[in-house]
Amino acid sequence: MRLLFSLVLLAGLPALANAQGKKTKPVQPIAVIELKRTTPVLYDKEIEPILVHKCAVCHSDNIKEGKLDLGSYEGLMKGGKHGAAIVPGKSADSLLVKLVGRTEKKFMPPKGEEPLTPEELALLKLWIDQGAKAPATKRERPKVIVVGPPADVHPVLGVALRPDKKYVAASRGNQIHIYEVASGKHVRMLLDPQLTVSSTSPKNGEGKGKAIQAAHLSLVESLAYSPDGKTLASGAFQEVVLWDADKGTIRQRLTGFADRVVALDFSHDGKLLATGGGAPTADGEIKIFDVASGKLVVEIKNGHSDTVFGISFSPDDKKLATCAADKFVKVFELPSGKFLKAFEGHTHHVLDVGWSADGKLLASAGADNVIKIWDFDKGEQLRTINGHNKQITRLVFIGKSDQFATCSGDQTVRFWNLNGANIRNFGGNADFLYALAVSSDGTLVAAGGQEGIVRVYNGSNGQLLKSLEPPDAQAVRK
Ligand code: HEC
Repeated sequence: MRLLFSLVLLAGLPALANAQGKKTKPVQPIAVIELKRTTPVLYDKEIEPILVHKCAVCHSDNIKEGKLDLGSYEGLMKGGKHGAAIVPGKSADSLLVKLVGRTEKKFMPPKGEEPLTPEELALLKLWIDQGAKAPATKRERPKVIVVGPPADVHPVLGVALRPDKKYVAASRGNQIHIYEVASGKHVRMLLDPQLTVSSTSPKNGEGKGKAIQAAHLSLVESLAYSPDGKTLASGAFQEVVLWDADKGTIRQRLTGFADRVVALDFSHDGKLLATGGGAPTADGEIKIFDVASGKLVVEIKNGHSDTVFGISFSPDDKKLATCAADKFVKVFELPSGKFLKAFEGHTHHVLDVGWSADGKLLASAGADNVIKIWDFDKGEQLRTINGHNKQITRLVFIGKSDQFATCSGDQTVRFWNLNGANIRNFGGNADFLYALAVSSDGTLVAAGGQEGIVRVYNGSNGQLLKSLEPPDAQAVRK
């Protein structure tokens, strides 16, 4: 996974060179070489590494260009939009070979990306000609899992600070942990009492009815507190739960989602909750619910052509900004849902978006490692802010100020001005960051990611206040 993200960085470089006006030579087919070898080519040792290095960034996990998943042997054999990409025994007839060999368009990987070497191409062809055999041993790779995540994958994907700054909520795997900020103590785990072993397809009925210590069946992808701090919303695969933040009980269950819900935002008056998500390469999903009744009040269809990663109400709640894997930032009018404007400029997935306090500017952050500032009225890009050197996964405006915070795969949290000045950095993390929350006065910052640890900082001076580790599941049952 991390390897994959760092590739995004590499992918950005050639694009830059082109932008600077360098002439690119016409594309030549990859040289064909013969391998003098009779031993079997092994998928897991020899083929998979090529796919991981040169293809996975666009063809695995939640990105499946051409509807082709190269993240697993099964996906590779299944093929994509145009059917099977591999014909076992016949490399010359395999679409994948033609595309990567650059004898048929569209060339893969696309222009600007590092092509296969002649040796890699030869290896791939030989493997196909030997029958495209499956790997001998099945190896699990971390990915989005619907039926409960494996026990050892506990990245923090969501962090939320209660507006009174007393509690911080963090999601790890399919659990939600609530900590008291001042003491750093874990005070509660949110549990969905409906989750029992019987509800998750037990093998031979073993342990049936036993409670599962989880908030959702699948990974909790997003968290947000309502402005009054009374409700905590959590998003997961095809589900959002509204929790009573004081009691830790379920108040509402919102369903009817096509896929994961990865973005949540409460309106400033606290009456509405906007959700973003959707299946990769299908339509992005944008829905707005009435918080009190749990009813769907607005659905924006066909707003994006891919997963929506970020969603944000304008300061007056009259507009909604969204951003998605389709590289667009868009703005819709509320409550009509009418499309107002699209902003194009990111060269990779746009992962989050927010509004300046006056509602005039938008800031967006992407998998292309940059932040972009947009003028809403003029509909144009004002500037690109560099600094992070990996994907920027979250962007949060700090209360009513013109400052905003970002977190990134480069393990840092940063504070910025709209003019692009980097005000402060928060370090100490040892892995990719996915989740970020900042109190409205900017004095408290919480961030978490792949490591599974939530770090709480003093936002005024960058000092690390607390490192919140996963609680022992047994000890915290209340
Ligand atoms: C930078 C992103 C990117 C990278 C890297 C990339 N691809 Fe693609 N790939 C795409 C896109 C986009 C499409 C869809 C093209 C279209 O249909 O217009 C695609 C389509 C394909 C298809 C056709 C699927 C179908 O059925 O339509 C194949 C096969 C393929 N890619 C193989 C590969 C292989 C093998 C690699 C690595 C050697 C690779 N790609 C690397 C972006 C990428």
